[in-house]
Amino acid sequence: MIVTTKVLLEKAKQDGYAVGAFNTVNLETTKAILDAAEELSSPVIVQLTEKTMEYAGGRVLFSLIRNMAEFYHSHIPVAIHLDHGKSYEIVERAIEIGLPSVMYDGSRHTYSDNVRTTKKVVELAHSKGVSVQAELGNVPYLSEVHGAIDWDEYMTDPDEAIRFVGETGIDTLAVAIGNAHGFAAERSEPDYERLSRISERVSIPLILHGASDWEDGRAEEVIRRGISCFNVDTAIKLAFVGTLTRVIGEGDKTDIRSVLEPARDAVKEEVKRKMHLYGSAGKAK
Ligand code: 13P
Repeated sequence: MIVTTKVLLEKAKQDGYAVGAFNTVNLETTKAILDAAEELSSPVIVQLTEKTMEYAGGRVLFSLIRNMAEFYHSHIPVAIHLDHGKSYEIVERAIEIGLPSVMYDGSRHTYSDNVRTTKKVVELAHSKGVSVQAELGNVPYLSEVHGAIDWDEYMTDPDEAIRFVGETGIDTLAVAIGNAHGFAAERSEPDYERLSRISERVSIPLILHGASDWEDGRAEEVIRRGISCFNVDTAIKLAFVGTLTRVIGEGDKTDIRSVLEPARDAVKEEVKRKMHLYGSAGKAK
């Protein structure tokens, strides 16, 4: 069953667990994510980026996810989401294709430019029943966090966050509390206090990007302090490519399915592990 991220995450927030938003690029990763959700009765967000829309064809991949979800997993709540739309035009295109949920990422712009475009995106999206995520502060990328980093430059300001939500009308907010995209050298200790101050002020669900490597107590701690969604991309890529490389190296393989299937299964197991960690397993029952 296709739902908006707003519905999915408001329920998670209310019930004190988090949902994984997993990046897909093709049939194999889509099937792995949805099969994991089915096996664990977990709500799930399947998301694609602008680059993936170019790679696979946005309309084609969206139809694939929607058809797979509707025909094979009709009782699992599935949201389909555009991750990191960097311009109004790409968000407009995703909405035109039919995505029920989008992110406009203006986090690298000034506060006022971020507000201006996010508001415009919200007007368009809400007129079509589409949920909107935006980002304030910004979550750095692996290439930016080599060596010393001034984390204060990236962090979400709690007072600015409440103003931003009020001025834009967004449905969910991505926050920066020491997290970074990729398996990066993140802040040695997340700024848990900052997260608590944000969630005391902001009533909409909060998202954590760069979450592939958030385990060992960190994930549980930020859920307790108000995170309702983790974005996971790198862990999926590593599971897929690592397995594919191993299997190809194992000998003569001419049947494409025989190399893709183990890679797909490795992604499914990784997604299931995350669903247990986030507490979403069993929540679709
Ligand atoms: P990772 O690359 O750390 O998995 O982060 C994914 C992400 O935030 C996608 O929006």
